Amino acid sequence: MELTSETAGAEVVRLVDYVATPYRIDTVHLDFRLDETETVVVAETAFTPRDGTAPGTPLVLDGDELWLVEARLDGAPLAATAYEASERRFTLKAPPAGSFRLMLTTRLRPAENTKLMGLYRSSGNWCTQCEAEGFRRITYFHDRPDVLAVYTTRIEAPKALAKSLLSNGNPVESGDVPGTDRHFAVWHDPFPKPSYLFAMVAGTFDTIEDRFVTMSGREVALTIYVEHGRGAKAGYAMDALKRSMRWDEEVFGREYDLDVFMIVAVGDFNMGAMENKGLNVFNDKYVLASPRTATDVDYAHIEGVIAHEYFHNWTGNRITCRDWFQLCLKEGLTVFRDQEFSADQRSRAVKRISDVRLLKSHQFPEDAGPLAHPVRPNLYKEINNFYTATVYEKGAEVVRMLKTLSGADGFRAGMDLYFDRHDGMAATVEDFVACFADATGRDLTDFMLWYTQSGTPEVMAATSWDAGAGRLKIVFDQTVPPTPGQPTKKPMPIPIRFGLVGPDGTDVQATRITGATVEGDVLVLEAARHEVVFEGLTARPVPSLLRGFSAPVRLTSTLDPADQSFLAANDGDPFNRWQAIQSLAMRGLIEATDAVRHKRSPTVDGRIAEAIVATAALETLDPDFRALAVGLPSEADVARELALDVDPDAIFAAREHLRGLVATRGRDVFADLYARMAPEGAYAPDAASAGRRSLRNAALDYLVRAGDGAAAVAAYGAADNMTDRLAALTIVVGADLTEADALLDDFHDRFADDPLVVDKWLMVQATAPVDGALDRVRALTAHPSFSITNPNRVRALITTFASGNQTQFNRADGAGFAFVADRVLELDRINPQVASRLLSTFRSWRALEPRRQAYAEAELKRVATTAGLSRDVADIAERSLG
Ligand code: TRP
Ligand code: ZN
Repeated sequence: MELTSETAGAEVVRLVDYVATPYRIDTVHLDFRLDETETVVVAETAFTPRDGTAPGTPLVLDGDELWLVEARLDGAPLAATAYEASERRFTLKAPPAGSFRLMLTTRLRPAENTKLMGLYRSSGNWCTQCEAEGFRRITYFHDRPDVLAVYTTRIEAPKALAKSLLSNGNPVESGDVPGTDRHFAVWHDPFPKPSYLFAMVAGTFDTIEDRFVTMSGREVALTIYVEHGRGAKAGYAMDALKRSMRWDEEVFGREYDLDVFMIVAVGDFNMGAMENKGLNVFNDKYVLASPRTATDVDYAHIEGVIAHEYFHNWTGNRITCRDWFQLCLKEGLTVFRDQEFSADQRSRAVKRISDVRLLKSHQFPEDAGPLAHPVRPNLYKEINNFYTATVYEKGAEVVRMLKTLSGADGFRAGMDLYFDRHDGMAATVEDFVACFADATGRDLTDFMLWYTQSGTPEVMAATSWDAGAGRLKIVFDQTVPPTPGQPTKKPMPIPIRFGLVGPDGTDVQATRITGATVEGDVLVLEAARHEVVFEGLTARPVPSLLRGFSAPVRLTSTLDPADQSFLAANDGDPFNRWQAIQSLAMRGLIEATDAVRHKRSPTVDGRIAEAIVATAALETLDPDFRALAVGLPSEADVARELALDVDPDAIFAAREHLRGLVATRGRDVFADLYARMAPEGAYAPDAASAGRRSLRNAALDYLVRAGDGAAAVAAYGAADNMTDRLAALTIVVGADLTEADALLDDFHDRFADDPLVVDKWLMVQATAPVDGALDRVRALTAHPSFSITNPNRVRALITTFASGNQTQFNRADGAGFAFVADRVLELDRINPQVASRLLSTFRSWRALEPRRQAYAEAELKRVATTAGLSRDVADIAERSLG
């Protein structure tokens, strides 16, 4: 056997170069022999040449840091000259004609696998993570999503180290290995799948069990596996799972297909969760919850992520992706499905507002910076760097637009066709879109631009009113800004859901609309310019455009503050009502920021503060909506709006000014709300009670801003749940009250044994907009509760600092950038995926004012020129500078 060492080549992979493999894989038999330090994997794989493959065409398999122990072909040992094996590749030089079986034995050291890709250990248990290219760290394989095979997995381990031995599919057999202290289990997954959906878990867990009867009456055994001692915290996840299973039957007609469904929660995990067939593996954060340790937001995330992974069973697993360029085919679609699920379980309006806020805070900056890429990229160097807000969040918006354009029935018909036509296959975005074109008869050729053009379209709407003619005209101009690799763009089809709000606050109807296609309450913009005329109006209405955020665009309009205030008080569309308040506040914040930058004292029109306070007090609105309405645009929101020459300190000062104004004007309203929104009984995580807490804590924040610090200190002491306790702590620390350190110590002492709560403790300190924050974060990297090898700790302390602390990360002396760059380099040797995500926090550096920009650029260059970088970090560093 020959081993050659190869360095990680940064070749570019292109969508246009797609070709199928010369051989397909029919079946795989995997045998894992686990032991304390070493694991031996025997993989027996059946290959068949595809039609057109010339006899003797070499078989080339992917590997990554692999060590080959033995290779056999159709049962016989392979001659050393018949193959080549390196850490990264296995080549069978001249395969026999017809089908053949290859048996490869590899040896792994899971405890040393700090990348958390492939087979690794977490708290002593074994688990795997294979998406996107982790399976090749277990055995040599066609590790790509268009090679679908039937897997049978045998796991053998010492009984003392692993009571549970799990893999995909249904359990077939289990028992003791005679004469040893070991036992085994065999699993068979009848559904052909790509290697990225493979999973194996072995360890000793607490379990919670339940059952689900599917719509056709089949019984499914449900089990959640959590680390020892945490069983009591998995109840909400189980409840969310059962609700997800029912919802997918009711809304999409999708039924579960195996006898068992398992979820395993682990403490060391690179992302949120993973949809392995029948065996989802989760980050602890998205399973474990109790009122004492989890916030309302945590509960909502658990519900959403449980649903997301479960929904992948049809959108991702039964129908998978032809290649990784099609990632949005499963991710964008599945995010859309989990958003709709949560909207049905909670308040639809509030869910929509939170989703759009996430899109704007994460995806818009990506689309506006050097890392911009289309929802379906056409080239990559490292696929892990494309699990982005653009693929997930903008990908979901694109599916939402397909629904808007197809109508609810057309959308369901298109989805049904997709499931029918492509079940068991690896599909493309074209395949998906064709189902909607075929089901509805609509031409979706131009719609494909949403998948291929990057950048956020800008839509300018100029309104004019002709009282004499009773006619309203809106001129829509769209432009799509240039992005890396795409200097010029075509106009996109943009659905604008709209209403005309009459003087009494209700919608009025035009008798005739010309200038654009109108479908119900949706205008479809297709060209760069549309002059839309609404006729037959008796009094001047205020147009409410982009209702429900019907397209992922930046809309600017000529509406003046009076019109915006009118919409803020009257718009029948809750999303646009919220948007109107935000736009008013944004207007004030931009003016105030400008004043601060020009050394004037900030002033904000008092009517803006008044509108915000009035909304807070409106009893006709739900508390959760009111809580969102009183939350001012974030510092990052303002920075994005400015787009250029950003000075985070000026933004902070301006925002503090407006906060102070709202706090002073609304003092009585907030005091009243704080009293009236007090808990009505024991904590429950439902949306209505969460909404009351949310409004109450927003009120508390303003009370403290108005000078009543003692209220927050008292609230911390009185809290009987994590939502209220963490809100109070965040307020006290953010306001830099003298009690801050004592409360932080108290919080740590109470929860030191719960890593997920320690993460909150780290986050509060990382995000505090106070001068000492950087020093504190640096000191915390040496705290015993922190660990650079655990992705949750790193994200809580360092990624949160870089993405959530505008003034301190972007410090004018560059120290924030230098600190984060140092951590990126330190982490890159441990876990490149987490390191490259951390480096992505530099993505908006070009929007900064010149001095900060220069510091950020210098740090990016320092990273980019460091020797021995991972492909992950090198790719982000290069593109960020490009
Ligand atoms: N497919 C997963 C999801 O549902 C995300 C994922 C991709 C992932 N790569 C991963 C999770 C690596 C953990 C580690 O969104
Ligand atoms: Zn997903």
